[in-house]
Amino acid sequence: MNIFSKIVACLISVPARIKGMKFGKNSFIGPGYAVAPILKGVALENNVVIGRNAWFDISRKTKGGQIIVGDGTQAGRNLVASACKKISIGKKCLLSYNVTLVDHDHDVFDPNVSPMDAGITEGKEITIEDECFVGAHSFILKGIRLGKHCVVGANSVVTKSFPAYSVIAGNPAKLIKILKQEEHYGERTANFRDHAGA
Ligand SMILES: CC(C)(COP(=O)(O)OP(=O)(O)OC[C@H]1O[C@@H](n2cnc3c(N)ncnc32)[C@H](O)[C@@H]1OP(=O)(O)O)[C@@H](O)C(=O)NCCC(=O)NCCS
Repeated sequence: MNIFSKIVACLISVPARIKGMKFGKNSFIGPGYAVAPILKGVALENNVVIGRNAWFDISRKTKGGQIIVGDGTQAGRNLVASACKKISIGKKCLLSYNVTLVDHDHDVFDPNVSPMDAGITEGKEITIEDECFVGAHSFILKGIRLGKHCVVGANSVVTKSFPAYSVIAGNPAKLIKILKQEEHYGERTANFRDHAGA
């Protein structure tokens, strides 16, 4: 990023900073993000890039909600992250476009109360550990933990937690394979060779 782009990016972040969102070194958010929600409690560590039209939201109904995005993580456009408890995204994760993480639900189960009047359920923390990839249009539900370097296929709805190196996909997301580190297969390349259950 050249100096001009950095200045523009810093200016774009000014309303978010005024609203209490924290930015680490070299961390930026794209234009078009929602300014109306509560942003105090949202923290980007260093070298984080969030694409345009992000919607970060700390619930007004509960106290102390947090959204933490780890060093070197990048998210594509239209990221939605809504927390009444806590959403942690680890270091060097890659979230594609239109990814949504919500750590609670609307309390929609009383047939006598309109969803408009119902509140939200108690939140359950979402934790995305380091180096995860989340494919486009995926939804991560409350209480989910994805271990290190999980891969979430495009258009997945993640309803359960998965351990490190899981490749999951679908609605509901199911395990399709486990990544195995190939010792002599280049420095950084994980080999997708074993199918789960094979
Ligand atoms: C998950 C993913 C990485 C797996 O890739 P892969 O290892 O080449 O997977 P395969 O094509 O071998 O598919 C393995 C199985 O998973 C299924 N599968 C793969 N991706 C799927 C998805 N997104 N949703 C549902 N099922 C999926 C396949 O149908 C196949 O099922 P089968 O064994 O019953 O035939 C890839 O399919 C994917 O979704 N990538 C993300 C794309 C994306 O979001 N790009 C945005 C970039 S910014």
